[in-house]
Amino acid sequence: MTSPRPVLVVGASGYVGSRVARGLAAGGHAVLAAARHPLPDAGDGVVPVGYERAATLPDAVRDVCARDGLPLPGAVVASIGGWHKGAALLDEDPDRWTATLASHLTAHLDVARALAPLLGPGDPYVVLNGAASREPMAGSGAICVTGAGLAMLVQVLRLEAEQAPSGAVRFHELVIDHAVAGDDRNADPAQTRTTAQVVTALRGVLDDAAAPPVTHV
Ligand SMILES: NC(=O)c1ccc[n+]([C@@H]2O[C@H](COP(=O)([O-])OP(=O)(O)OC[C@H]3O[C@@H](n4cnc5c(N)ncnc54)[C@H](OP(=O)(O)O)[C@@H]3O)[C@@H](O)[C@H]2O)c1
Repeated sequence: MTSPRPVLVVGASGYVGSRVARGLAAGGHAVLAAARHPLPDAGDGVVPVGYERAATLPDAVRDVCARDGLPLPGAVVASIGGWHKGAALLDEDPDRWTATLASHLTAHLDVARALAPLLGPGDPYVVLNGAASREPMAGSGAICVTGAGLAMLVQVLRLEAEQAPSGAVRFHELVIDHAVAGDDRNADPAQTRTTAQVVTALRGVLDDAAAPPVTHV
């Protein structure tokens, strides 16, 4: 039986986040879908949570839960970032490099800092990552570097949580090793993963307190 406490998906305006939110809702989870951009069609059973920046996200979540009579979330899925191909690292626009560090790495830390205090001991916090975190890709250097950094970020968050005296959130990384089917931004991918495969893997991590720190799908 799924928990009555909602799963909070952050980055729910994105390609993967929007589909994950709908997929979890279709499987019976209550779902809160947080994004800074509007969600015109969140999907059945998905409750949108608009917010402006990480620091205001907890209050936005509390307000929506109070309005709709929902309990506070019992799990977080961070689907923040994405993939693009552009210039070689040595030629990359410095501003774009800085922006990618902010959106693909620092944003994860900011959101984790904001949301972990909403969760209780043993509650799952799952960070989505991609193949670029493990495989060097020409033209996607900033995504590779931030993805690799994100993998380590999750490991450190997990270790520090395990050392917390009061027991804490369990942090996990779910690595989607291939393009998600239907995302046209991936030109001619060798393999794809369906949204259903991603959601099944995610449910495995959310629902199993003994799930490994890193899962690949
Ligand atoms: N798409 C694929 O084929 C694919 C394949 C493998 C792995 N993945 C992984 O899936 C995850 C999501 O990728 P995606 O393709 O869905 O990316 P996406 O379509 O670009 O969506 C990412 C979302 O992240 C949010 N975001 C961006 N900057 C942010 C910031 N500074 N603070 C908070 N939120 C921010 C945005 O939502 P708001 O601006 O509205 O808040 C955006 O909708 C990534 O970890 C990626 O590596 C994707």
